[in-house]
Amino acid sequence: MNISIIGSGYVGLVTGVCFAELGNKVICVDCDVKKISHLKKGIVPIYEPGLEELIKLNLKNKRLKFTSSIRAAVKASSVIFIAVGTPALENGEADLTGIENVARSIAQNMDGYRLIVEKSTVPVETCAWLKKTIVTYIKKSLKFDVVSNPEFLREGSAINDFTHPDRIVLGVESAKAKQMMTNLYKPLNRPILITNIKSAELIKHASNAFLATKISFINAIARICDKVGADVLEVAQGMGLDNRIGRYFLHAGIGYGGSCFPKDLEAFINIAEKLGYDFAILKAVKNTNEEQKKFILQKIKDELWIIKDKTIAVAGLAFKPNTDDLRNSPSIDLIRALIQEGAKVKVYDPKAMNKARACLSNVVFCNDLYEAAKAADCLVVATEWNEFKELDFVKLKKILKRPLLIDGRNIYDPKLLKALGFTYVGVGRGNA
Ligand code: UDX
Repeated sequence: MNISIIGSGYVGLVTGVCFAELGNKVICVDCDVKKISHLKKGIVPIYEPGLEELIKLNLKNKRLKFTSSIRAAVKASSVIFIAVGTPALENGEADLTGIENVARSIAQNMDGYRLIVEKSTVPVETCAWLKKTIVTYIKKSLKFDVVSNPEFLREGSAINDFTHPDRIVLGVESAKAKQMMTNLYKPLNRPILITNIKSAELIKHASNAFLATKISFINAIARICDKVGADVLEVAQGMGLDNRIGRYFLHAGIGYGGSCFPKDLEAFINIAEKLGYDFAILKAVKNTNEEQKKFILQKIKDELWIIKDKTIAVAGLAFKPNTDDLRNSPSIDLIRALIQEGAKVKVYDPKAMNKARACLSNVVFCNDLYEAAKAADCLVVATEWNEFKELDFVKLKKILKRPLLIDGRNIYDPKLLKALGFTYVGVGRGNA
C-alpha cells in the first residue's frame, strides 16, 4: 500500500519504517524541515535500538521517503496515519491543535478516497472531531473513513513492540476501513481486535492508566516493605505468579516517567472530569508517583543528613534504559532537587548525555559511572541500564568517599553489597 505518516516523532518514525519494512511504500512527513533533511540522509534525531539501521535500509531500497509537504504525501497515499504530538496544556488537557491542523491540510489536499488513521494518543471522541473537520474543509464531496488505531509501543523496544504486539486495536466504522486496516497488519500475524472508534480511543488511555496504577501500587507496597523489613522483590514475585495479576509492571523504583504515562494520566483525569466523573484512583496513582520521587531524596537525606556541599553521583538520567529520552525523567527531578539542596552533583548516562547537557546546568558531566562516583559521598543508580548491573564493586568502594549506594531501581543484591562493606539502600528492600 501507499502510506503516509504525518508526524515523524517516536511513534511516527517507528510506524513508518516498520510498514516500509513490511513491503509498503511509506512517506514520513514532518513540519520540521531540518529534521526531515537529516532523516533523508539517515540521521535519526532519537536513540531507539535498531531504528537508524532500518531507516537507512528502507531509504536505500526506496520504500521509505521523507518530506515536509503534507500535500505531496496526501496525493501519493491511500492510507494516512496521523502521529503528531498531543502535548499537555497547563491544565493537563491534551493540546489537539496539531491534529486539527493536519486534518485541515489532509482535507484540502484530498483528491479521492482516503483512509485516515488516528495514531496519536488522543481523548475519546477525537476521531469524531477529526471527521467533522475533514467534512468542513474538504473541497468536493469525496469519500473517506477515519480509524482509531492506538499505538502501544514502548521506547527502547519500539520496533519489537510494533512487529510483535500483544494485540492490534482497530476502531472502525465501515467494512472498507476494516478490510484495508486488516490487510495492512496481516503480515504481522498477531491478534487483531476490531472495536467501535470510541472504544479503541478509550483502550489506549485505559491501558496506560492501568499500567501506571500497577507501578504506583507496587511502589506503595515498597513503602510498607521498608517499614516492616519485607523485600518488595519477593512480594512482587509472589503477587505476579497469580495469573490474574501478572508479573509485569510490578517493579518498584523511583517512580514512572517518560512522555506517555505522566501526560496520559493527566489527560485521562481531565477527560473524566469533563465527563462529570472524578477519577479518584488515577489522582492517587499520580500523587503516589510524585511522593515516590520525594521518597528517594528522603532516603539520601536519611543517610547523609545534610545534603549541602555533599558530592552525589547519579548514574542514569533517561527515564528508563535503552533510550536517550529525558522527558519527565524521575532522575532529572531528583538531580534538580539535590542541586536545590546545595549538593554538588556528578552525572553519567550511557546514551542521554547530549540531551542532558541541554537541560541540566550546575552538574558535572562524566564519561562513565566510575568517574561520577570518584570522591562522591553517595552513588544513586536512577536508571537500570545493563552496564550498571555488573559493576566492579571493589573498585567502586575504593573510589567513593563513603560506600553508600542508593539503588533506585532495585538491581543489586543487598546481601552481596553489605558483605562488601557498602551501605545499601534500595526501594522496599527492608531497610527499615
Ligand atoms: C508506555 C507504555 O508501556 C506503552 O504501551 C505506550 O505506548 C507508551 O507509554 P514507555 O513510556 O516507553 O511506554 O515506557 P514503559 O516501559 O512503559 O515505562 C514507563 C515508565 O514506568 C518508566 O519510567 C519505567 O521506568 C517505569 N516502570 C515501568 C516502573 O517504574 N516499573 C515497572 O514495573 C515498569
